Amino acid sequence: MEQTFIMIKPDGVKRNLIGDIVSRFEHKGFRLIDAKLLNVSRETAELHYCDLREKPFFGELVAFIISGPVFAMVWEGEHAVKNARALIGATNPVEASAGTIRGDYALDVSSNIIHGSDSLENADREIGLFFKGQAAFSY
Ligand code: PPS
Repeated sequence: MEQTFIMIKPDGVKRNLIGDIVSRFEHKGFRLIDAKLLNVSRETAELHYCDLREKPFFGELVAFIISGPVFAMVWEGEHAVKNARALIGATNPVEASAGTIRGDYALDVSSNIIHGSDSLENADREIGLFFKGQAAFSY
Protein backbone atom coordinates (compact mmCIF):
# COMPACT_ATOMS: atom_id res chain seq x y z
CA MET A 1 0.00 0.00 0.00
CA GLU A 2 1.38 3.40 -1.01
CA GLN A 3 0.60 7.00 -0.09
CA THR A 4 0.82 9.92 -2.50
CA PHE A 5 0.67 13.69 -2.17
CA ILE A 6 -1.99 15.49 -4.21
CA MET A 7 -2.53 19.25 -4.30
CA ILE A 8 -5.40 21.12 -5.94
CA LYS A 9 -3.72 24.28 -7.19
CA PRO A 10 -5.15 27.82 -6.76
CA ASP A 11 -7.02 27.65 -10.10
CA GLY A 12 -8.82 24.45 -9.06
CA VAL A 13 -9.76 25.89 -5.66
CA LYS A 14 -11.02 29.16 -7.22
CA ARG A 15 -13.12 27.20 -9.70
CA ASN A 16 -14.80 25.20 -6.88
CA LEU A 17 -13.43 21.87 -8.13
CA ILE A 18 -12.41 20.46 -4.72
CA GLY A 19 -15.58 18.38 -4.31
CA ASP A 20 -15.44 16.89 -7.79
CA ILE A 21 -11.75 16.03 -7.52
CA VAL A 22 -12.09 14.46 -4.07
CA SER A 23 -15.03 12.47 -5.42
CA ARG A 24 -12.97 11.15 -8.33
CA PHE A 25 -10.27 9.89 -5.97
CA GLU A 26 -12.87 8.28 -3.68
CA HIS A 27 -14.65 6.59 -6.59
CA LYS A 28 -11.34 5.25 -7.91
CA GLY A 29 -10.86 3.48 -4.58
CA PHE A 30 -8.29 5.66 -2.84
CA ARG A 31 -8.58 6.31 0.91
CA LEU A 32 -8.23 9.91 2.16
CA ILE A 33 -5.57 10.03 4.88
CA ASP A 34 -5.26 13.78 5.47
CA ALA A 35 -6.32 17.07 3.84
CA LYS A 36 -6.18 20.82 4.43
CA LEU A 37 -6.80 24.16 2.73
CA LEU A 38 -3.78 26.43 3.08
CA ASN A 39 -1.81 29.33 1.68
CA VAL A 40 1.62 28.06 0.64
CA SER A 41 4.60 30.21 1.64
CA ARG A 42 7.22 31.10 -0.98
CA GLU A 43 9.78 29.05 0.97
CA THR A 44 7.57 25.93 0.95
CA ALA A 45 6.71 26.38 -2.74
CA GLU A 46 10.41 26.64 -3.65
CA LEU A 47 11.20 23.52 -1.60
CA HIS A 48 8.28 21.65 -3.10
CA TYR A 49 9.44 22.41 -6.66
CA CYS A 50 13.20 22.27 -5.89
CA ASP A 51 13.82 19.74 -8.70
CA LEU A 52 12.59 22.38 -11.20
CA ARG A 53 14.82 25.24 -9.96
CA GLU A 54 16.70 25.45 -13.29
CA LYS A 55 13.58 25.44 -15.49
CA PRO A 56 12.68 28.73 -17.22
CA PHE A 57 9.14 28.56 -15.79
CA PHE A 58 10.23 28.03 -12.16
CA GLY A 59 9.47 31.63 -11.06
CA GLU A 60 6.10 31.61 -12.76
CA LEU A 61 5.21 28.22 -11.21
CA VAL A 62 6.14 29.34 -7.68
CA ALA A 63 4.23 32.65 -8.12
CA PHE A 64 1.17 30.71 -9.28
CA ILE A 65 1.21 28.26 -6.36
CA ILE A 66 1.39 31.07 -3.79
CA SER A 67 -1.27 33.18 -5.55
CA GLY A 68 -4.18 31.72 -3.56
CA PRO A 69 -5.19 28.82 -1.32
CA VAL A 70 -4.42 25.25 -2.34
CA PHE A 71 -6.05 22.03 -1.10
CA ALA A 72 -3.35 19.59 -0.02
CA MET A 73 -4.19 15.91 0.42
CA VAL A 74 -2.65 12.55 1.21
CA TRP A 75 -4.29 9.59 -0.51
CA GLU A 76 -3.57 5.92 0.08
CA GLY A 77 -4.04 2.92 -2.18
CA GLU A 78 -2.37 0.21 -4.26
CA HIS A 79 0.22 1.80 -6.59
CA ALA A 80 -1.06 5.17 -5.36
CA VAL A 81 1.57 7.27 -7.15
CA LYS A 82 0.97 5.77 -10.60
CA ASN A 83 -2.79 5.39 -10.20
CA ALA A 84 -3.14 9.02 -9.12
CA ARG A 85 -1.03 10.25 -12.04
CA ALA A 86 -3.30 8.29 -14.41
CA LEU A 87 -6.40 9.90 -12.85
CA ILE A 88 -4.82 13.36 -13.15
CA GLY A 89 -3.72 13.01 -16.79
CA ALA A 90 -0.79 14.40 -18.75
CA THR A 91 1.02 17.49 -17.41
CA ASN A 92 0.07 19.52 -20.46
CA PRO A 93 -3.74 19.60 -20.74
CA VAL A 94 -3.40 19.68 -24.54
CA GLU A 95 -2.11 16.10 -24.27
CA ALA A 96 -4.39 14.97 -21.42
CA SER A 97 -7.10 12.47 -22.37
CA ALA A 98 -10.76 13.28 -21.82
CA GLY A 99 -11.89 11.62 -18.60
CA THR A 100 -8.75 12.66 -16.73
CA ILE A 101 -8.85 15.66 -14.39
CA ARG A 102 -6.62 17.84 -16.57
CA GLY A 103 -8.26 16.54 -19.73
CA ASP A 104 -11.66 17.58 -18.43
CA TYR A 105 -10.86 20.85 -16.63
CA ALA A 106 -7.69 22.51 -17.95
CA LEU A 107 -6.50 24.18 -21.13
CA ASP A 108 -2.94 25.28 -20.39
CA VAL A 109 0.13 23.84 -18.65
CA SER A 110 0.63 26.99 -16.57
CA SER A 111 -2.73 26.49 -14.81
CA ASN A 112 -3.35 22.76 -14.84
CA ILE A 113 -5.53 22.42 -11.72
CA ILE A 114 -3.71 19.73 -9.76
CA HIS A 115 -0.33 18.33 -8.71
CA GLY A 116 0.44 14.68 -8.02
CA SER A 117 3.76 13.24 -6.81
CA ASP A 118 5.78 11.71 -9.64
CA SER A 119 7.59 9.06 -7.55
CA LEU A 120 7.30 7.32 -4.18
CA GLU A 121 10.42 9.16 -3.03
CA ASN A 122 8.91 12.55 -3.91
CA ALA A 123 5.58 11.52 -2.36
CA ASP A 124 7.32 10.90 0.99
CA ARG A 125 9.22 14.19 0.70
CA GLU A 126 6.11 16.21 -0.23
CA ILE A 127 3.93 14.62 2.48
CA GLY A 128 6.67 15.51 4.99
CA LEU A 129 6.84 19.08 3.69
CA PHE A 130 3.09 19.78 3.85
CA PHE A 131 1.98 17.56 6.75
CA LYS A 132 5.03 17.85 9.03
CA GLY A 133 4.80 14.85 11.32
CA GLN A 134 1.16 15.55 12.16
CA ALA A 135 -0.83 12.43 12.95
CA ALA A 136 -2.57 11.22 9.79
CA PHE A 137 -5.91 9.47 10.05
CA SER A 138 -6.15 5.70 9.91
CA TYR A 139 -9.42 3.81 9.34
S1 PPS B 1 9.52 19.10 -16.83
O1 PPS B 1 9.84 20.26 -17.65
O2 PPS B 1 9.45 17.85 -17.60
O3 PPS B 1 10.41 18.96 -15.65
O4 PPS B 1 8.13 19.42 -16.26
P1 PPS B 1 7.07 18.37 -15.78
O5 PPS B 1 7.69 17.28 -14.95
O6 PPS B 1 6.26 17.92 -16.93
O7 PPS B 1 6.24 19.30 -14.88
C1 PPS B 1 6.69 19.65 -13.60
C2 PPS B 1 5.82 20.76 -13.08
O8 PPS B 1 6.09 21.95 -13.82
C3 PPS B 1 4.87 22.49 -14.32
N1 PPS B 1 5.16 23.07 -15.62
C4 PPS B 1 4.95 24.36 -15.94
N2 PPS B 1 4.49 25.38 -15.22
C5 PPS B 1 4.40 26.60 -15.86
N3 PPS B 1 4.76 26.79 -17.14
C6 PPS B 1 5.24 25.77 -17.89
N4 PPS B 1 5.60 26.00 -19.15
C7 PPS B 1 5.35 24.49 -17.30
N5 PPS B 1 5.78 23.27 -17.72
C8 PPS B 1 5.65 22.43 -16.68
C9 PPS B 1 3.92 21.35 -14.41
O9 PPS B 1 2.58 21.77 -14.31
C10 PPS B 1 4.35 20.51 -13.24
O10 PPS B 1 3.71 21.01 -12.06
P2 PPS B 1 3.12 19.99 -11.00
O11 PPS B 1 2.56 20.86 -9.95
O12 PPS B 1 4.27 19.13 -10.53
O13 PPS B 1 2.10 19.21 -11.73
